Amino acid sequence: MKIFLDTANLDELKKAAAWGVVDGVTTNPSLIAKEGIKIEEQIARICDIIDGDISAEVISTTAKEMVEEGRKLAKIHKNVVVKVPLIRDGIQACSELSKEGIRLNVTLCFSPAQALLAAKAGAYIVSPFVGRLDDIAQLGMELIESITTIYGNYGYTTQVLAASLRSPLHVAQAAEVGADIGTLPFKVLDQMFNHPLTDKGLEIFLKDYAKAFETSK
Ligand code: G3P
Repeated sequence: MKIFLDTANLDELKKAAAWGVVDGVTTNPSLIAKEGIKIEEQIARICDIIDGDISAEVISTTAKEMVEEGRKLAKIHKNVVVKVPLIRDGIQACSELSKEGIRLNVTLCFSPAQALLAAKAGAYIVSPFVGRLDDIAQLGMELIESITTIYGNYGYTTQVLAASLRSPLHVAQAAEVGADIGTLPFKVLDQMFNHPLTDKGLEIFLKDYAKAFETSK
């Protein structure tokens, strides 16, 4: 499973890039707003840090405007994937832009039926939100499983990106049910490293070595 970082924060991206485990980035209008820098500029900076798919979301809501905005966003960098919401106009914009060779991430997907529409509209990526379904007492991971089954049944090439992942458990479960991509906040990526037995084991290895060769400080 590819790991994307769900952030527009450059410090977080630089730190994670150094680990060499980040395949791409997703952003949304809330994440861009948090950084206080206009989308064109911030996306260009992100593209300089991470060499992978970088999702940039439109803020217009009519198909015509989304198509115009999408064309502009796609021109920022060859790695930009234009993100549109899963509404009627978003699906129309996806159909039109994908025919022009622009890659689309259809976001705010909350049902298998919606995901089917995204695939039929030629989406490069569909983004079902796991955590937000969990928030309303529905099993978000079942949506990922259902979409991967449907796409598999018919050979759709649209990649399933598990979004709104809130914990390392979510990440592991998304990988288990066959998501193509998982996008996560920096905090969750950082948490994925942690295991008390790793820390304990390392402590013992170093102590034993130091004891044997009297290199303890
Ligand atoms: O990838 C979508 C993500 O930004 C939403 O996450 O935690 O706000 O539901 P969350």
